[in-house]
Amino acid sequence: MAEKTTQRTLWGSKIGFLLAAVGSAIGLGNIWRFSYMSYQYGGGAFLVPYFVALVLAGIPLMILEYALGHREQAAAPLAFARIRPGAEWLGWWLPTMALFGIMLYYAVIIAWCVNYLFYSINLSWGNDPGGFFFKHFLQVSDSPFHLGGIRIPIASATFFVWFLCWIICYREVNHGIERACTIFMPLLFVLTLVLVGWTLTLNGAMDAVRNVYLKPDWSKINFITHPEARQVWIAAFGQIFFTLSLGFGIMITYASYLPRRTDIVGNALWTAIINCVYSFIAGFAVFGIVGFMAHARGVPLGEVIKSGPGLAFVVYPAAIRELPFGQSLFGFMFFLVLIMAGLSSGISLVEAFTCAVTDKFNWSRKKVVTAICMLGFLGSLVFTTRAGILILDIVDHYLTNYGLVLGGILECILVGWVLKAREVRRHVNSSGGMRLNFLWDVCVRYLTPAVLIAVWGNAFIRELRQAYGGYSTDQLVLFGVDWILLSLAIGVAFTFYPWDPRKLRRTHVPAEDALLT
Ligand code: ALA
Repeated sequence: MAEKTTQRTLWGSKIGFLLAAVGSAIGLGNIWRFSYMSYQYGGGAFLVPYFVALVLAGIPLMILEYALGHREQAAAPLAFARIRPGAEWLGWWLPTMALFGIMLYYAVIIAWCVNYLFYSINLSWGNDPGGFFFKHFLQVSDSPFHLGGIRIPIASATFFVWFLCWIICYREVNHGIERACTIFMPLLFVLTLVLVGWTLTLNGAMDAVRNVYLKPDWSKINFITHPEARQVWIAAFGQIFFTLSLGFGIMITYASYLPRRTDIVGNALWTAIINCVYSFIAGFAVFGIVGFMAHARGVPLGEVIKSGPGLAFVVYPAAIRELPFGQSLFGFMFFLVLIMAGLSSGISLVEAFTCAVTDKFNWSRKKVVTAICMLGFLGSLVFTTRAGILILDIVDHYLTNYGLVLGGILECILVGWVLKAREVRRHVNSSGGMRLNFLWDVCVRYLTPAVLIAVWGNAFIRELRQAYGGYSTDQLVLFGVDWILLSLAIGVAFTFYPWDPRKLRRTHVPAEDALLT
């Protein structure tokens, strides 16, 4: 069979790519997830394992994913299959887990925000935001097994979210995703700074920032004296994967649309740094609002803190009610920030799978996106039921902490050992921009996988001893373990369609074979 060459769409500009990549990274994970993780795991102390995870796993893997996507000009399945045909399943598993695992509930959380955007106009949550969120809005059932019917306001907003993803992803990346992120991201940064600035002017805000966020509870992360702290470490590594969109196949896909001459290392560093600085700054707003609430109600900080996935929907609305002025505006801005951050990540989850399918089957992008969004909406419906938040909590825990981290370990082995890290490094260094040295090889081959295996294994052993979140074993197996296995089975099913990945070469057009400006 002759080598087949197809032209690949490229990003319109360097900044367009960076905004899209940062848009994928900055998402609900930076505000909704990061805030309740750091509450739960020792305030600012969580920043230590978070930073360790960033340096030991986040940055090396970000470079790895960018380099691989750029080298192979392919989404994860084709890229992995070219390294070794038997590794194609891994390339399918990651975007399948991302789309049919994470994106299904991610879209529903954005949908909660859409509802809350409207609720903030007249502060519909009243005096009891907790009761409003859990009893009135979600109408949470008593067990993940009791679905108890779909909540229409949530399902309608979920449909709207999938519709927006469809509109944005329908067109080629340079027209759809890039344009959307060029609008969303600057707006998101400005609104976030306004929110943080506003929050820090409130009475009591700086107390919580100083006494909780910046004055950590070290016992929560000391796993030598406190064995339960192992959970914090896996949560930090999981959070780094989630927040940097690693292990989803997204960054491989996004880098595949870069021209040949490009600064892979510089782009990876910028993406990781902007994302983590954003989380850190957003943390000021979250802890600041808790401090303000405690001050307004005259209670200790510990009494306001509500951990878990409901944090942003309980503590924030309660605090908004206490604001001296501009309550609706503040609420509207907060939920708009969440929606924009969520959408710019949601579209990247859709893109990773879309590109994987179009690479292999050569089907029309428009049809693939349409089918994915329709199926995605149907899949999301389970999270719009009364048991939605409980199922979401379990799925998120397993997919992020175990699925994504395991994906990262396998990526290191495949790229570091089978393809050879130095081959990839050679590619990076010949592409222009910042150069990599042998330390990266050491990370990808030894350090990163060793740390990930240690953290993953420890957390897994602890998980066997103590079930997560007080759920029963059958609930955890059905919604957590089975979800991982199901995405694996779907992924593996795609590999049965025969093809010859090594014959599918894509070339850049010469005019674009230069560093983007
Ligand atoms: N990286 C995305 C987030 O943090 C998925 O929400």
